[in-house]
Amino acid sequence: PLRIAVLASGRGSNLQALIAARDAGTLPVEFVLVGSDKASAGALELAQAAGIPRLALNPKAYPSRRDFDLDLFARIEATGAELLVLAGYMRILDGEALHPWVGRMINIHPSLLPKYRGLHTHRRALEAGDLEHGASVHYVTAELDGGPVIAQARIGIEAGDHEDLLAQRLLAYEHRLLPAVVRLIAASRLAYAAPDGVALDGERLSAPLE
Ligand code: GAR
Repeated sequence: PLRIAVLASGRGSNLQALIAARDAGTLPVEFVLVGSDKASAGALELAQAAGIPRLALNPKAYPSRRDFDLDLFARIEATGAELLVLAGYMRILDGEALHPWVGRMINIHPSLLPKYRGLHTHRRALEAGDLEHGASVHYVTAELDGGPVIAQARIGIEAGDHEDLLAQRLLAYEHRLLPAVVRLIAASRLAYAAPDGVALDGERLSAPLE
């Protein structure tokens, strides 16, 4: 099984979707760590219930973002994780600290990237009058929500949709999208190899997959 670590700041329903897929025998992964920047995150409780090692680090205990991220990534590296999954992890990552993880760290973001990087994606899609909305799983690079997109789930925006309802409808699709992408990576059908020291951007997604 692919050794994966998950970072989550909140309730952890996407983590739960991964655990459920693993339990159902449809996702060949071993969870080596669930980490959070919030000691109260629901994701940590889910991890405990599933018997997964947990890590909660307080950003306020570090002199800088880079110090926090370097410690976080060092601890994740020490678990032997092969893939790091951001599932509702709400902190911006330091570009230098994350660099060694480029190509082996993915994030799920609730918009049809490149639309609506950042926060309040559902509200922004509604305010723009969009007819469709969605979620994206992408490789993480130093550019916020800007790394190469791997896969997206797309839903229609319906009359009567509001921010919470749209978020809730989309979430059910996120819960299928994220395990599906991790499944592809676990099957080694996706690789994103970045030569050392090369700046990464979205264009590299078109590089040949092995
Ligand atoms: C999900 O909708 C995820 O796409 C979003 O946070 C939610 C976490 O829910 N992620 C981001 O906004 C990342 N910037 P969960 O804790 O129930 O998985």
